[in-house]
Amino acid sequence: MIKAVRGTRDLLPPETDLWNSVEAAVREVFRAYNFHEIRTPVFEETQLFARAVGEETDVVSKEMYTWEDRSRAESEKGQSLTLRPENTAGVVRAYIEHKLWDRGLNKLYYIGPQFRRERPQKGRYRQFYQIGAEVLGPPTSGSESPARDAEVLELLATLLDRLGIKNWTLQLNSIGCANDRAAYNEALRKALEPVVPKMCGDCQRRAATNPLRVFDCKVPEDQPIIEKLPRISQYLDEPCRKHFEEVQAILKSVGVDFQINDRLVRGLDYYSRTAFEFTHGALGAQNAILGGGRYDGLSESLGGPSAPGIGFAIGEDRLVLALQEATATPQASADVYIAPLGEGMNREAARLARELRRQGIVADLGDETFRLKKSFESATKQGARFILIVGENEVKADVFALKNLASGEQVQVPRGELVQRIRSGSSSQ
Ligand code: HAM
Repeated sequence: MIKAVRGTRDLLPPETDLWNSVEAAVREVFRAYNFHEIRTPVFEETQLFARAVGEETDVVSKEMYTWEDRSRAESEKGQSLTLRPENTAGVVRAYIEHKLWDRGLNKLYYIGPQFRRERPQKGRYRQFYQIGAEVLGPPTSGSESPARDAEVLELLATLLDRLGIKNWTLQLNSIGCANDRAAYNEALRKALEPVVPKMCGDCQRRAATNPLRVFDCKVPEDQPIIEKLPRISQYLDEPCRKHFEEVQAILKSVGVDFQINDRLVRGLDYYSRTAFEFTHGALGAQNAILGGGRYDGLSESLGGPSAPGIGFAIGEDRLVLALQEATATPQASADVYIAPLGEGMNREAARLARELRRQGIVADLGDETFRLKKSFESATKQGARFILIVGENEVKADVFALKNLASGEQVQVPRGELVQRIRSGSSSQ
């Protein structure tokens, strides 16, 4: 038997109904903040991720699905392509490719699959879904302002509240800019020098190439060492400190709670200044429901003009998990099961189903070869609230037997009153 590849999974109804309702709510919230959707390709040139996310990150060095293209066209031969492990790089590439700076401030969102070769476990998959957003534009558009950071964070708080996610914690940090980073890296290197021989192989490499990445280490024995390393908060320059203070002041003014966590550096290289995660208790070890931050130098590093930006990505799989922990998934079902009874009745039932569905009634349709007992069984299995019998006598009289499957009550309803009858019965359930 061929099964889904390890770390990937099928999403089946009724869970997909929950996914769809989450996405519908999310789109509504994005609308209120005047964000618009962007859809970028699922695969890109490998170079894009190597340059944007960083060679030394776990994502690029260990987790990407990369292949050499087999195209026979000379210009594409041997091109290295990668399934996107995240979407910020693709959005910034699109910003540069389509000169989106002409539009001033861009407020973009996306919903779609991402791919990382991680060890699968609860809340961690090799194909997972992100709901993300990016706010970016030329500095003249206000893209650098702390007001953008606070707006994005307030949007997230609203979104989680609206979805009914309770007990989330916003962890907030500033990881400074290129200016601060040089001094901080130097301090980290110095602090690591005497202890690094005791650390894991990855950390030994990181200490030399990109010391900030030492904070991504998950090896338990290394944690006491990492705990004692200098913190970025001690190295912020005046503009970065002011920017961070203003983000916090706006958050306080709008009443969004946060915790400062000066160990939070995020696992991707493009970040500068504000970095954040929202965590949630129900998720266990994989407790980050979303993460994001500012990436003011990213566009330049991909060959574009200055385009400060800030964004986030929610792990949709984890969001749905958290929702499932909170409430049982409601079963979305049919309002009515239409049961044709006897030869020639499929046609009549189809006509009736078309009328009802066009007026917004959710209808399932049986088959004229089913005996009445089988129709009732099917209706119950589909979770229908009513069964509607379409037999020769009913068609002649244009009056139909409508039975409420929960209460057992049966009534004769003229065709013209069916919609209203079914609707009032559904809403009272
Ligand atoms: P990230 O922290 O790598 O950031 O991922 C964001 C979220 O995606 C995580 O908090 C988690 O909920 C979810 N996630 C990541 N990996 C997996 C996985 N293997 N299985 C399930 N869920 C996962 C980014 O991707 C950045 N592009 C976010 C961003 C946008 N920063 C600025 N703009």
